[in-house]
Amino acid sequence: MNLPEGLVRAIPHVRSVCVLTGAGISAESGVPTFRGDDGLWKKFRPEELANVDAFLSNPSVVWEWYAYRRRLISEVHPNDGHRALVRLESLVDDLLVVTQNVDGLHQEAGSTKVVEIHGNIRRNHCHACKREMDVDLLQQAGPPSCPQCGGMVRPSVVWFGEMLPMAAFGTAELAARRCDLFLSVGTSGVVYPAASLPFTAKNSGAYLLEIDPEETQLTRYADGVVRASASVGLTAVVAVFEQQKVRS
Ligand code: OAD
Repeated sequence: MNLPEGLVRAIPHVRSVCVLTGAGISAESGVPTFRGDDGLWKKFRPEELANVDAFLSNPSVVWEWYAYRRRLISEVHPNDGHRALVRLESLVDDLLVVTQNVDGLHQEAGSTKVVEIHGNIRRNHCHACKREMDVDLLQQAGPPSCPQCGGMVRPSVVWFGEMLPMAAFGTAELAARRCDLFLSVGTSGVVYPAASLPFTAKNSGAYLLEIDPEETQLTRYADGVVRASASVGLTAVVAVFEQQKVRS
């Protein structure tokens, strides 16, 4: 696979990498994306399912939607894209994976430096008192009640209109600012503030690479583009780091 020349020239000097991943990296594991032709938001409306008002007015419907996605995610496994990022972690001094995905597949693959800026669908907490619930709720028909305060238990994901976890996003911004190479992988780049991270990195001097089979909102700002799936594109990029390591 032909990689952008500028990227190949930059890699020997790269010490710090920040990777922003979106639904596209999990597509090859069988998790549907949000906005493609088969995307989840083509069949379901985010405003009916992924926001606090929907949960409060129609808790069972929202709970069932997340139960459906939890079942789906519980049956899938990391792919070569996730695994390439695990290898990259051992090849550079500093790497952070910032994921918008809530499926936990980076950690399952073995990545240890991951921040989840949109939460994790496998976790739950009480909407009222925020207490975390460490129980298997896959089988519940509707949201269970919190044993502490009686509030409704909800998935620990960020809904439209909610703030991102501040500490996680702060960590992501710092990584974007200090990296030499920023990889935007499998994200349409339309949901902010996540979509601001590539610009933070570029404005701080990083080489900005997009890996995505389709043109995205970010494409025209990228220094290099790899038009391939996450598994093919990341495997090719990480192979250059591996060759570099062998030479040095
Ligand atoms: P989208 O569905 O908006 O975009 C998925 C991207 O993945 C698109 O650019 C596709 O071209 C690309 N893609 C598809 N297959 C791919 C593959 N095999 N390899 C690499 N890329 C591929 O998903 P996100 O950008 O992740 O937020 O969406 C961002 C946020 O919108 C989500 O985190 C979620 C959603 O609403 C919340 O729920 C808060």
